[in-house]
Amino acid sequence: MAVKVTYLGHATFKLVSPEGKTFLIDPWLNGNPACPESEKKQSAVDVIVCTHGHGDHIGDAVEVIRAHQPKVVGIYELASWLGKQGAKNILPMNKGGSQMVEGVKITMVHAVHSCGIQEDDGSTIYGGEACGYVLEFSDGLRIYHAGDTAVFADMQIISDLYEPDVAMLPIGDLFTMGPREAAYAIEMLEPRVVIPMHFGTFPVLTGKPEELEAVAAEFDFEMLTMKPGEEHTLDAEKLEMVNE
Ligand code: NI
Ligand code: MN
Repeated sequence: MAVKVTYLGHATFKLVSPEGKTFLIDPWLNGNPACPESEKKQSAVDVIVCTHGHGDHIGDAVEVIRAHQPKVVGIYELASWLGKQGAKNILPMNKGGSQMVEGVKITMVHAVHSCGIQEDDGSTIYGGEACGYVLEFSDGLRIYHAGDTAVFADMQIISDLYEPDVAMLPIGDLFTMGPREAAYAIEMLEPRVVIPMHFGTFPVLTGKPEELEAVAAEFDFEMLTMKPGEEHTLDAEKLEMVNE
């Protein structure tokens, strides 16, 4: 079975592995204006993968943890904080490292962004650093979720070492890359498929997929603009064929 991806809006993705395990990247559901009503309550979550501590990325992490007790992947400080909120299965890690989680090799990579965790009283606590991830599935499919980030030259290292087939890239501007920066990232990463994210959720996130397509027209990739709630099958073998 090939990997299934469902876009839940903003930077939130649900991935079902070839083994049938459900991974949620950046669980932001209830407060997420882009998340379809039908996806706000998840029936099964085996693993949550968190890029950083901002509310639009971990807004529902604690709720999902209390409901499902998934394995929780995050940078050391953030994972420890989620442990304090009730997560029993935290799998802390740091940049450059990898670990096998439910049959998926998860590598934490760099991101250029901040990572404070906002507490209920409005104070901000240290959440480690923001990061991205490369997920390598048992069928060979490799997905890079960049998290919130600026473009940075070390994306070349991510490209060289992990050769992602699919890149989920923020394009909304203001808090992350906009389309121009994302096109520069694509030139380094050389993914087969680009899934744009972190745009349009709020009016201030102005970057648009069409703008990315226009500025990245010279590069060879397939743009997969997913509507929230849309599901796609990412077949590793077919992706190979596209490139051959
Ligand atoms: Ni952020
Ligand atoms: Mn964000």
